[in-house]
Amino acid sequence: MYVPDDHRYDTIKYNRCGRSGVKLPAISLGLWHNFGGVDLLENSRAMIRRAFDLGITHFDLANNYGPPYGSAEETMGFILKKDLHGFRDELVISSKAGYDMWPGPYGNWGSRKFLVASLDQSLRRLGLDYVDIFYHHRPDPETPLEESIGALYDIVRSGKALYAGISNYPPDLTKKAEGLMNSMGMHLLIHQPKYSMFERWIEDGLLKELREDGIGCIVFSPLAQGLLTDKYLEGIPPGSRAARPTGFLKPDQVTADKIDKVRKLNAMAKTRGQTLAQMSLAWVLRHKEVTSAVIGASKVDQIDDAVKTLDNLSFSSEELKKIDSILAGK
Ligand SMILES: NC(=O)c1ccc[n+]([C@@H]2O[C@H](COP(=O)([O-])OP(=O)(O)OC[C@H]3O[C@@H](n4cnc5c(N)ncnc54)[C@H](OP(=O)(O)O)[C@@H]3O)[C@@H](O)[C@H]2O)c1
Repeated sequence: MYVPDDHRYDTIKYNRCGRSGVKLPAISLGLWHNFGGVDLLENSRAMIRRAFDLGITHFDLANNYGPPYGSAEETMGFILKKDLHGFRDELVISSKAGYDMWPGPYGNWGSRKFLVASLDQSLRRLGLDYVDIFYHHRPDPETPLEESIGALYDIVRSGKALYAGISNYPPDLTKKAEGLMNSMGMHLLIHQPKYSMFERWIEDGLLKELREDGIGCIVFSPLAQGLLTDKYLEGIPPGSRAARPTGFLKPDQVTADKIDKVRKLNAMAKTRGQTLAQMSLAWVLRHKEVTSAVIGASKVDQIDDAVKTLDNLSFSSEELKKIDSILAGK
């Protein structure tokens, strides 16, 4: 029987999520890859246990994580029942809908029809009465924003989610979404954008908007799916995300130009006494608006590596300039 570590809250850092009552661990664990029906259940289970033992209280899911779609939520449901039963109130579980999930006109995008039905299905797979955070996964150019945000509002009112979030929304639409929520007496808890040294769009307006409206920020793919680690320095290793047929990172994305930058960043991480994964995570966490970095993992030791980031989160201005110049190809 799994017994969580008594010292799990001793070292990890928790950050307040925007202007809200809830705190999230600086490192959260996402179940996009390596928790599906195609993966080894005992490895997925070991990673969730280790994460919880280290004080990672937040697990991030979506309706279609797998493959097959839905299977990561089934895996999490199994682990919640077998290992984390009795710890529900120590956990923040999130799910999302907004991408392709089932066939036909009601299984994608942002209609009320889709969002409400998808969350009901997620709750069944997870074996839960409610999720802590439910996100609209991406903006829908065809559905009125009032409908998608109104559905999130009603979902929270129904008790099937405690908080509402949005993901991949640009700054202007984020402002409108928060305005709509406010007009109904509610607040968006959190935004989930992609952010890493290789993907810096949130610096161009989104962080400012989140700060102004007191919305938390959890950044996804902070390691650029593994590129911002030392993993690909000598080519694409077997078993890595870029090598696996079900991986979202494709071999042609592991370019010579990127690896040249990674090599320089890796040398710099060494001078800080960190792995490149740790320096990459510290770098996204340097903004006070960033509540948490949601990482992926394929092995338990990657989670250990990530949590050790918190030993050194500071950068000198020279170090930040050097990173910028490496990223600019200088
Ligand atoms: N909202 C959205 O639209 C959206 C989109 C994508 C993801 N997400 C969320 O963000 C989460 C994280 O995304 P991600 O998996 O792309 O994040 P990531 O942290 O950038 O990449 C994770 C991958 O990097 C490799 N890795 C991790 N730690 C390592 C280490 N210490 N040393 C070497 N390699 C390491 C592993 O790949 P290997 O398998 O090669 O070992 C791991 O699977 C997802 O699970 C999901 O919850 C949200």
